Amino acid sequence: MERHARAIAPANIAFIKYWGKKDPILNLPFSHSFSMNLDNAKTTTEITFSPTLQADEGTINGKPLSGEELARTTQFLNSIRERAKVTDFAHIKSTNSFPTAAGIGSSASGFAALTLAGTAALQLKCTEKELSQYARLGSGSASRSIPDGFVEWIAGDSHETSYAVSIAEANHWDLVDLITVVEPDRKKVSTTEGHALAQTSPLFAKRIDELPKRVDAMRTALLEKDFATFGSILEIETWSMHLTTFTALPPMSYISPASLAVMRTLFELRAQDIPAFYTLDAGANVHVITREPYSIQVEKTLRELDGVVDVLPNRPTIGARLLDQEEK
Ligand code: PMV
Repeated sequence: MERHARAIAPANIAFIKYWGKKDPILNLPFSHSFSMNLDNAKTTTEITFSPTLQADEGTINGKPLSGEELARTTQFLNSIRERAKVTDFAHIKSTNSFPTAAGIGSSASGFAALTLAGTAALQLKCTEKELSQYARLGSGSASRSIPDGFVEWIAGDSHETSYAVSIAEANHWDLVDLITVVEPDRKKVSTTEGHALAQTSPLFAKRIDELPKRVDAMRTALLEKDFATFGSILEIETWSMHLTTFTALPPMSYISPASLAVMRTLFELRAQDIPAFYTLDAGANVHVITREPYSIQVEKTLRELDGVVDVLPNRPTIGARLLDQEEK
């Protein structure tokens, strides 16, 4: 018997970052983190478990799954197969609506969609909390792509206590994430390598010390919609993460000269009373966060910059959901 399901899940942009793994098997973080789901950066995943398959297989954007990616997928599927007491292998077809592995969270949307489609196909009855826990096993940040809107990942210290929850619906705040693409190609240092290097930086311990206060301040700014405070915490947090890469052993960087040019442009916009703030995940592309009334002006300014290949506007959205057979 074949078992089939289809799901769609958004990528998310981290406002407070998950960086460094306290437990690399369970993907447990050192700190709580926050994110917003992105409505124009989604993965659609179709999964079919079949007794005739000899191994897991599939495609991402038409390209066959192989190597590390396939191994991660199989490892993840084993966790839900185990719970469902099923041994069938799966065929997966995954499509992203945005550039893969360019710091736009394709592993978050990918594993969130796979979690929902996989558990539905195996007819596992999971709560949102359980879905978030499973998604975390695939990729930590995927735990945050399950709930709606604005999301907090509660760090926890075990599989059961580490999961994400929605702290506000998508319509809570009119934020716009203008993803400013300066490097559309696959990044050179994977996020997994970045996580592993984080703790080699002498700045990492300081970051961990500072985070509890920053986490509380970010939660308050988000809930109270205090954009100026939100923006200043966002940028400090960005550097707190990225300075651990510059000072790691060996050092590396996701930030490129083109990313810096975008960041500096925002200072000029702010001097003209146009509020827009930056953050970057593990890639050179800059997530420029502004509010709806300023979005057109900011997007226009960004598009005119040398080195900017594209600007992808994203607004807050719901989390992962199942799709019917016909639904787009
Ligand atoms: O979930 P991962 O292992 O792809 O790690 C995500 C790391 C960052 O995007 C840099 C930060 C975050 O919290 O999403």
